[in-house]
Amino acid sequence: MDLNDLTRRLGNGTPRIAFGADYNPEQWSREVWKHDVELMREAGVNLVSVGIFSWALLEPEEGRYEFGWLDEVMDLLHANGIAVDLANASASPPPWFTVKYPDSAPVDENGVRQTHGSRQAFAACSPDYRRAAAALTTAIAERYSQHPALAMWHIHNEYGCHNQPDFGPHAERGFREWLRARYGTIDALNEAWGTAFWSQHYYDWSEIMPPRRSGTWVNPSQQLDFARFSSDSLLECFEAEADIIRAHSDKPVTTNFMGTNMGLARPVDYWRWAPRMDIVSNDHYLIAEDPRNHQDLALVADLTRGWAQTKPWLLMEHSTSAVNWQPRNIAKSPGQMLRNSFQHLARGADGILFFQWRASRAGAEKFHSGMVPHAGRDTKVWREVVELGAALEKASEVAGSRVVADAALLFDTDARWAAELDSHPSMEAQPVRELREWHDALFRAGITTDVRQSTDDLSAYPLVVAPMLYLVTDDGAANLRRYVEGGGTLVLTYFSGIVDEHDRIIMDPLNGGGYPGAFRELLGIEIEEFFPLHAAETVPLTEGSGERWSELGRTTTAEAVSRYEAGPTAGSPAVTRNAAGRGHAYYVGTTPDAEALAGLLPRVLADAGIEPPRHAAEHPDLEVVTRASEEGSWVFAINHGTEDARLPVDGVELVSGSATEGELRVPAGGVAVVRVAG
Ligand code: GAL
Repeated sequence: MDLNDLTRRLGNGTPRIAFGADYNPEQWSREVWKHDVELMREAGVNLVSVGIFSWALLEPEEGRYEFGWLDEVMDLLHANGIAVDLANASASPPPWFTVKYPDSAPVDENGVRQTHGSRQAFAACSPDYRRAAAALTTAIAERYSQHPALAMWHIHNEYGCHNQPDFGPHAERGFREWLRARYGTIDALNEAWGTAFWSQHYYDWSEIMPPRRSGTWVNPSQQLDFARFSSDSLLECFEAEADIIRAHSDKPVTTNFMGTNMGLARPVDYWRWAPRMDIVSNDHYLIAEDPRNHQDLALVADLTRGWAQTKPWLLMEHSTSAVNWQPRNIAKSPGQMLRNSFQHLARGADGILFFQWRASRAGAEKFHSGMVPHAGRDTKVWREVVELGAALEKASEVAGSRVVADAALLFDTDARWAAELDSHPSMEAQPVRELREWHDALFRAGITTDVRQSTDDLSAYPLVVAPMLYLVTDDGAANLRRYVEGGGTLVLTYFSGIVDEHDRIIMDPLNGGGYPGAFRELLGIEIEEFFPLHAAETVPLTEGSGERWSELGRTTTAEAVSRYEAGPTAGSPAVTRNAAGRGHAYYVGTTPDAEALAGLLPRVLADAGIEPPRHAAEHPDLEVVTRASEEGSWVFAINHGTEDARLPVDGVELVSGSATEGELRVPAGGVAVVRVAG
């Protein structure tokens, strides 16, 4: 069972976009529950996630379960035609659990143990936690797998949000086991970690620790492996719980990924997790004060679609208005929530859900918005919720269709983790920022991008941009070479292809040759030394300027598109282009400023045979994305600007039901989706 089955179930046979929220009825009285379901019907809510933080109420003491209230909630929702995404409630062990099993709580890098009182206070490798979570999951699966309200399963909640990484004794044991399985022998580990450096050689597995606080930088290869291990240890928790569910139920299983909450999902490698999901689901929250937060949203949606292998996915959480955890929790302006929702829909979401249904009265999130605000029905938020519910219903036919992407951006978790480690040439070399800026450059040009990994099949994309692919495996490097030789246009940016999977420099100690070891030949260049720039320094290029970074090097077979014009790297190539097989590989050795980018991008797009759409120049704030299936194609237009926009497209606009007659008018701040004629 997958997302198509879910959307069909929600529409009684015809696909319907999922619409709803996390629902936490345990915070409210039965009287409020009755009101809730009436309001849900009014808004067209068809799916709610229940029980995510209910462990303490469902299991008052170990092995004794109280399901009465949840039975009532499930029955009430079913009676009102609302389907349930039921949680297995393992996300937050109750206080009695940590009191009974104190060593099950996570420990930070300084050796400080956390306690209960917030949420997620468990160590992923704690046997007591795993046993208790499995028992609870079994009890819930046995009780509800046949319940008619049940539509899907929500395992845990945002794995790794608060308890990762854990440096405690369970992690120590788990890490050693994980390393043994990876390396087999201690010699292989010593080789991979480069332990000849600083007298770090290990003679026995028992000497190896998680990278706890040490005098200065802990071995980077060790840190990288610990990040991989930590993600894998949580994945083991997911799999154990999902296996129990799947033994009892054929309904689809997911866990909600956290696209932005932790700076683009740092603790977990979702590329490894996503294949284990029946439905890929993600949470996204706007960074309220970021003036281009809609572009960040677009990037995260594109990344989520990448995790889903370009298939549709589910937006499990976003907010109707303000959150509670940013420095200034700016409320959404009128229309902004609708635009956000349509952006996700346009970029492949087949469901738009919120955290949460009703804004809490008590607790740390009482100032977080909900679908039902504290002020109730006569509010901007509620009116927009109802408007969104109606709009999504009218757009239902897009469910199941795929986003039409023009290009791909690469974002490998290992490369990101490794590039973010300490003691690097410049703190300015930040992979997530580079990704975001290249995504923005393409977004502004009206180019829709998928986000993929270096090892994915890229042959369908005319253009692939790899921002700061610092770490690359042999397979990844070979794949990119194949891609270019097969006719693709590749753009690699500075600090790419520098280290292998163990974070060791890719180099030839006997013959030299310079950076980037993994791509020297493909790019036709040799870099001998990095020259990171001073803070706020720029370096003039043949065209425009470079920021943050520059390099001393030479071309071998590449042509120099532009050079550094001053400073210690004057005369060195800054941007190069190399022909390889039937394609071209560009290298961008600095962060191009707007002028440099304006010169470079058209050239790259021309090589790739991509013609930027006209609307991008005419209406820079109009976001246009196409979804398509065998049944047809749909053009989404989201106007982030303050002026009305016009787009040539012939068909029927689904929300208003009116024909465009060749030209769609999208009012300032408005959204539209057109079923393209023919
Ligand atoms: C998410 C979490 C929700 C809620 C929300 C608030 O990270 O999954 O439970 O806390 O943030 O924005």
